[in-house]
Amino acid sequence: MAVQISPSILSADFARLADAAASVSNADWLHVDVMDNHFVPNLTIGLPVVESLRAATTLPMDCHLMIEDPDRWAPAYAEAGAASVTFHIEAARAPIRLARELRALGARAGMALKPATPVEPYEDLLAELDLLLVMTVEPGFGGQKFLDVCVPKIRRSRELIAKHGGELWLQVDGGVSAETIERCAEAGADVFVAGSAVFSSDDPGRVIDELRRRASEATARASWQFAR
Ligand code: DX5
Ligand code: ZN
Repeated sequence: MAVQISPSILSADFARLADAAASVSNADWLHVDVMDNHFVPNLTIGLPVVESLRAATTLPMDCHLMIEDPDRWAPAYAEAGAASVTFHIEAARAPIRLARELRALGARAGMALKPATPVEPYEDLLAELDLLLVMTVEPGFGGQKFLDVCVPKIRRSRELIAKHGGELWLQVDGGVSAETIERCAEAGADVFVAGSAVFSSDDPGRVIDELRRRASEATARASWQFAR
C-alpha cells in the first residue's frame, strides 16, 4: 500500500476548519482529535463539529478519540460519517465488541496505544482491527517533541502485522515532521498524522507533498517492505 498522510486539524484555526480542510485537499485523510478533558488533560471538539465537517469536506475523516468510555461514545462517530474511528485501548472495556460495532457501522476500526502501552498483549486482537495507532507523543497536545523511544514499538508492531498477514494499517501520531517521518516509515508505519508540521506552514499542501515523498522513499528502502 502507498503511504498515506493524515493532517491533524488540532493545529488548525478552529474558527476556520472548513478552510483548513480545503488547504490539505491533497491529503488522504483528515485527522480529527477528539479530547474529553478526562482521558487527556485537554478539551477539543466532538460530534457536532464532526457532523459539520462531514458536510464541509470531501476528505474522509479519521477520528482519534482520546476519551474515556469509547464503548459508549465511539459508534456515534461512525454514524456521523467518520470513515475511520480510533479508540484508545487504555480506555476501552470491550475492545473486540467495540471494533466489531464500528465495522458493522461501515467505519474502519482503529486501536491506539499510548507511548508506555505495549503492543504484544494485543496480538490476538489485530485481526479485529483495520488500523493500529502507535502514539509517538503522550496524547493531549499538538506541537510536542517526537519520542524516539517509541520507534522500536513501531518496528515490533510491523513484525506482528507481517506475522498475521491481513490489511492492517500502522499509523503514527505525534511529532511527525520532515525530520522524523523517515524513521517512522523505515520502522514500518504506513499512515502518518502530522499537525503542527502541516498547519504551521503558509502552504500546508506543499508540506503534505514533502512528507509523502520522504515517507515513500524511506519505505522503499525499508526491509519490512520486502518481508511482506
Ligand atoms: C496529540 C494528537 C495529535 C496531534 C499531533 O494528542 O493526537 O494528532 O495533533 O500534533 P503534532 O503533529 O503537532 O505532534
Ligand atoms: Zn491524533
